[in-house]
Amino acid sequence: MNKVVLTGGSSGIGKAIALFLLEKGYEVLFTYRHSQESAQEIEAKYSKSKAFQIDFSIPSEMERFSEAIADFSPDILINNYYNGTFIDTYFHKTEAEKFSNDFNSNIVPTLHITQGCISIFRKKKFGRIINILSSSLNAPALGTSVYNANKAYLLQMSKSWAAENVKFGITCNSISPAFIPTDFHKDMDERMKETILSGYPIKEELESKDISGAVDLCLNGGKHFNGNHIFLDASHY
Ligand SMILES: NC(=O)c1ccc[n+]([C@@H]2O[C@H](COP(=O)([O-])OP(=O)(O)OC[C@H]3O[C@@H](n4cnc5c(N)ncnc54)[C@H](OP(=O)(O)O)[C@@H]3O)[C@@H](O)[C@H]2O)c1
Repeated sequence: MNKVVLTGGSSGIGKAIALFLLEKGYEVLFTYRHSQESAQEIEAKYSKSKAFQIDFSIPSEMERFSEAIADFSPDILINNYYNGTFIDTYFHKTEAEKFSNDFNSNIVPTLHITQGCISIFRKKKFGRIINILSSSLNAPALGTSVYNANKAYLLQMSKSWAAENVKFGITCNSISPAFIPTDFHKDMDERMKETILSGYPIKEELESKDISGAVDLCLNGGKHFNGNHIFLDASHY
């Protein structure tokens, strides 16, 4: 029960999760899009890792990945990747296309992957699903309506995944981290980063590796640990 499919596993939070699980002896099939060098380094170091290059914004690439998932026969799915931006523009200025484009390149592939994994998990009568969402769901920053709405869609969906599958030994939980200065924010104005971090109640900022404990809990917290939404955010009370 230790085969993991992890989307976006060679950078940022996903990479930290991949390394944590590989160190613990899990077998990890992880995707990457641009971070090839990092993917190759992980593969070279861990014989139980397998990198899969895919661009989830190209629908035709999904078929190949679905086949790879079926061949791999995972026990665990971690939905981590996000293609897009955290802060964009105000809702009233957002181009109509952005709503559908971001939904199609983030949510639709995640739904397909999750459907495929649930079918496999149901046959095994075991499965763990973890969704990486965001603590900005709680208090959205200005300009994050599309990002937060996509995360909210997955949060709502994850409740159905938890309800429909727990009888089959499958749990589904979500983790919402606070701001972490990964590549995801590489185009963000430095002053904006400082503003976000200065509003944080403790000096140490959250780091990608801090997600591991919550991942471990979702994987090994038992079959009653289901349908939870965990905040990793010291300012969430
Ligand atoms: N950083 C934060 O402050 C923060 C806070 C809360 C939640 N999160 C969430 O954490 C998750 C990981 O983000 P991160 O901060 O670790 O940033 P990141 O390093 O930029 O991770 C994004 C991941 O998505 C992959 N990806 C992007 N576009 C893709 C596409 N079209 N097709 C396939 N893969 C694609 C990237 O792959 P490549 O690198 O290979 O291109 C990368 O692995 C996201 O869901 C994000 O919403 C982040």
